[in-house]
Amino acid sequence: KDLTGLSTLGCTANARWYYELTTSSDLPLLVERIQQISSSMKVLGSGSNLVLTPNIDAVVVHNSLIGIEIVKQDDSYIWLEVQGGEIWHSFVNWCVVQGYSGVENLALIPGTVGAAPVQNIGAYGVEVASVVEQVTAFDIQLNEFVTLTAEDCKFSYRDSLFKEHEGRFVITSVQFKLSKQLQPILTYGPLQALADHPNLNVQLIFDSVIAVRTEKLPDPASIPNAGSFFKNPIISVDSFSSLEKQFPDIVHYPAGSNIKLAAGWLIDQVGLKGQSNLDGVGCYAKQALVLVNPNKANGEAVLAWAKWVQQQVYKKFGVTLEMEPRIWR
Ligand code: EPU
Repeated sequence: KDLTGLSTLGCTANARWYYELTTSSDLPLLVERIQQISSSMKVLGSGSNLVLTPNIDAVVVHNSLIGIEIVKQDDSYIWLEVQGGEIWHSFVNWCVVQGYSGVENLALIPGTVGAAPVQNIGAYGVEVASVVEQVTAFDIQLNEFVTLTAEDCKFSYRDSLFKEHEGRFVITSVQFKLSKQLQPILTYGPLQALADHPNLNVQLIFDSVIAVRTEKLPDPASIPNAGSFFKNPIISVDSFSSLEKQFPDIVHYPAGSNIKLAAGWLIDQVGLKGQSNLDGVGCYAKQALVLVNPNKANGEAVLAWAKWVQQQVYKKFGVTLEMEPRIWR
């Protein structure tokens, strides 16, 4: 199966086998068959966090499970069960139209609902972990469907149980708890101005987030990319102190008992913002943390540029940048 066009980085790729999953009850038999042919399984959502290399020796299962269902509600909250194949932004938009609050800061993040908990998507002061009630998945190891509470999911910055056990769980649906009253989170710089707005509502926050994102981040439909390509590195206070002596204006944030650095700033400082390699793979001119692949070069070319960026940042700052997207081989 030709996977070109099924990931937002636009890399050309072929998978040995492909299965379109439209009914979760197909999973037990599907997994059994995959085990019989001694292959591995990879679950594809909308491919927004993937580097595809040219030949993928696995069964690629495309999650096309669709539907939003109200599980329960009271005066303050509503619980929604959302199928994993739903497009994340469409779900956010639907919530905003209904007036439910909790995901409006996460507007325009590419990807599916089923992929959201995997890397605990986060932006503009909100992480999806804050609204996840539970996750239902097929556990390939136990060979049964499991329901995991938010606590079981072990969410942290861009991380979860699902990343730790890559390949073990197929997320079929996610249950969200959203608020019927607006719970604004306006900590992120450009959103702070909304705090004084006389008629602040979910729609306004949603619209502002979209405006900020469209200003800084390239639309994968016109310039192939996978959003932030590296995690913001988290380092100890001690390591930070010595770095700060050398680079007094280093951008940083508190992260529990550690310090989080802005990877985009580090890349910018080594002069790679707006630069690219011969394949056209490069760092976006308006946000260096986003790798862009305008010529739809293959995964190896993308990884070569990523490695170059990591080396340059390490050379100057002694900081290791960890890649966000998963690499499929
Ligand atoms: N910066 C630079 N040069 C650059 C890019 C950034 O100096 O080329 C500086 C900015 O000026 C700012 C700091 O670095 O002071 C942080 O930049 P920004 O606010 O754009 O956020 P980020 O840390 O680069 C993270 C998420 C984004 C999310 C934004 C907003 C990660 C890896 N990325 O980016 O997520 O939208 O915060 O909350 O945590 C994504 O995952 O695809 C994504 C876009």
